[in-house]
Amino acid sequence: MYGDIVILSGAGISAESGIPTFRDSDGLWNNHRIEDVATIEAYERHPEQVHDFYNGLKIDLQKALPNPAHLAITELQNGYRNGTVSVVTQNVDLLHEKAGNRNIYHIHGQIDQAVCMNCGRITDARGEVTTETLCAGCGMAATLKPNIVFFGENLLRMIEVDALLDKCRLLIAVGTSGAVYPANTFARIARYHGADTIEFNLHATVNSYDFDRHVIGRAGETFPRFVKELSAEK
Ligand code: OAD
Repeated sequence: MYGDIVILSGAGISAESGIPTFRDSDGLWNNHRIEDVATIEAYERHPEQVHDFYNGLKIDLQKALPNPAHLAITELQNGYRNGTVSVVTQNVDLLHEKAGNRNIYHIHGQIDQAVCMNCGRITDARGEVTTETLCAGCGMAATLKPNIVFFGENLLRMIEVDALLDKCRLLIAVGTSGAVYPANTFARIARYHGADTIEFNLHATVNSYDFDRHVIGRAGETFPRFVKELSAEK
């Protein structure tokens, strides 16, 4: 029986919804150089190219539907009586929201928003954003950036996430390779504070030693089964 639960999700949880992960063989980063589309320097050097990339990605992500792993989180949140279930996601898609999950923390940003590099205002950006788009806050053009954390930028919502990691009694990582700092330290931090840690992935990851338990397989199959087991433990 656990207290608060943190679910750390990565691209693997959305793979069965048809969204490519970043580092698998058909991954998003295979067709693109991170330096061209996902660094703050790239955005400063050629913002048009960066906007084109995210405008295209946005169309694909908006079409995607949640899979059984996302839906199982809602089931867990609805049925769990021993604490809060929070979702800390590295994903910029909105499949946790579409599945009805609550307490979602997008630490790498989200595809449907833009942030103004002049006034800091975050705006709804479900449609195309270009260097011509005016900021709704300060009215300037060419200042909007996808509200996605690029390499070289700080993560979002980390004060809240630090508190969650401190307090949780179970950390569950679903579909993340553990390649990107600092999300790849969350299991270690939660464990240091006394949490049990479980990893759901197709295979063991580079920081597998941070997890007490490994569940190998497709998250859309393994994670709903786990939620049923956890509910039956009550
Ligand atoms: P990765 O592409 O690095 O890793 C995806 C992980 O999901 C891999 O370990 C796969 O084995 C696993 N996986 C794939 N399909 C799965 C399935 N059906 N069930 C379970 N696991 C599966 O993606 P992330 O770890 O999320 O940052 O990458 C972290 C960050 O790197 C991303 O948020 C992104 C990228 O740079 C930004 O865009 C800011």
